[in-house]
Amino acid sequence: MDKLIIQGGRRLEGTIEISGAKNAALPLMASTILAPGKHVLENVANLKDILTMCELLEKLGARVDRSRLESDGILEIDSADIQSRRAPYELVKTMRASILALGPLYARFGCAEVSFPGGCAIGARPVDLHLKGLEMLGAKISVEHGYIVAEKQDAHANEITFDTVTVTGTENVMMAAALTPGKTVLLNAAQEPEVVDLAEYMIEMGAKIKGAGTERIELAGVESLKPGVHRIMPDRIEAGTYLVAAAITGGELLLKNCNAGHLESVIAKLHEAGVGIEKSEAGLRVWRKGKLRGVDIRTTPYPGFPTDMQAQMMALLSLAESGVSMITETIFENRFQHALELQRMGANIKMEGNRALVTGVKKLSGAKVMATDLRASASLVLAGLASQNTTEVSRVYHLDRGYEKMEEKLNAVGAKIQRAKEA
Ligand code: UD1
Repeated sequence: MDKLIIQGGRRLEGTIEISGAKNAALPLMASTILAPGKHVLENVANLKDILTMCELLEKLGARVDRSRLESDGILEIDSADIQSRRAPYELVKTMRASILALGPLYARFGCAEVSFPGGCAIGARPVDLHLKGLEMLGAKISVEHGYIVAEKQDAHANEITFDTVTVTGTENVMMAAALTPGKTVLLNAAQEPEVVDLAEYMIEMGAKIKGAGTERIELAGVESLKPGVHRIMPDRIEAGTYLVAAAITGGELLLKNCNAGHLESVIAKLHEAGVGIEKSEAGLRVWRKGKLRGVDIRTTPYPGFPTDMQAQMMALLSLAESGVSMITETIFENRFQHALELQRMGANIKMEGNRALVTGVKKLSGAKVMATDLRASASLVLAGLASQNTTEVSRVYHLDRGYEKMEEKLNAVGAKIQRAKEA
């Protein structure tokens, strides 16, 4: 296992290129199951989760050409020869997003078996709404030996209202409905840009979809889809993380290849906290304007403040020079584990239920810390960048799941981060 050793206290300055979005690439890769043939995806980040999805598609019988993934961000997926309908436990347990195979396998073959995703460090994360959606499209769902089994019985379109906004749930049901005869309407659908990216590719494949990006998505089922070419949207969470990196180190960065429109809620909060952000032809420029102020944050589905940026903002607000910050996490029930590690670095954070009260301290001091999930790891790296002396972040495999070349990108703008093997 690797760890990162961070020499903190260095101001970051320079340009960072943002990679393709992990959370858009994963559903898009799964959607290649829908249309037999060769799909080309561009701007794909070379990440552990992407490789796990490649492995899953290969297990199903697809041919995945990843020879240009690292050099050019291109993945070619030929889904013509998929034979298996089963997403095995061994892969699903390493990546919950494997559940995204359920909708497209069911849509194309009329049956699918996907290992039931287990618990997760940040909360229970049930998939009941994915299953309810498929049932409402005429699937018979059962659970056998730890596997969700979906079988087509009486396929029909329907009006489906999600009880809670679910991103991958919306994506799964959208993929299933694309090949279900009749007009399906999804209400209280997720409006995340990643859902829109998926819908755009599905439309290119021949699907009839209206309203993606709003809470009402309409689909008219078609008989079949054909493969195409698609460029994955930029990663808004990676971009948000580097916005915080500039702010927390008192530095100045230019982020290239990012979509500022996807970051409005994050930019608004950073402005409120005293961070300068300006959009230009060249990209998104971010700098620390003056004193950092505490701000209140409440995570909500898009276009609200993303839960995937909560941990990074907590690291920043730990160093607010005035005011206190109330952070309320409404999406996942157990997503404050980074707070305990930040406390070990000297942060003043009081937690009660889904709320954390953060009072800024003058400095954070380097420590050995351990991350429990992807974004928690990012927040500890950010705290390490701003802290005095050395911070060691262990269990870097969490970071590698979702941040492409993080230490390389940060070192190129002045950070001093070294990767080492854990003893
Ligand atoms: C996706 C993102 C993840 C992000 C999350 C919330 C991907 C691959 N992952 O995860 O990075 O943190 O959205 O923005 O895109 N829920 C149910 N029943 C369900 C499904 C969800 O109760 O069937 C609940 C969850 O427990 C959670 C909330 O709905 O409280 C939102 O979860 P959801 O949007 O489904 O998260 P994911 O799609 O798993």
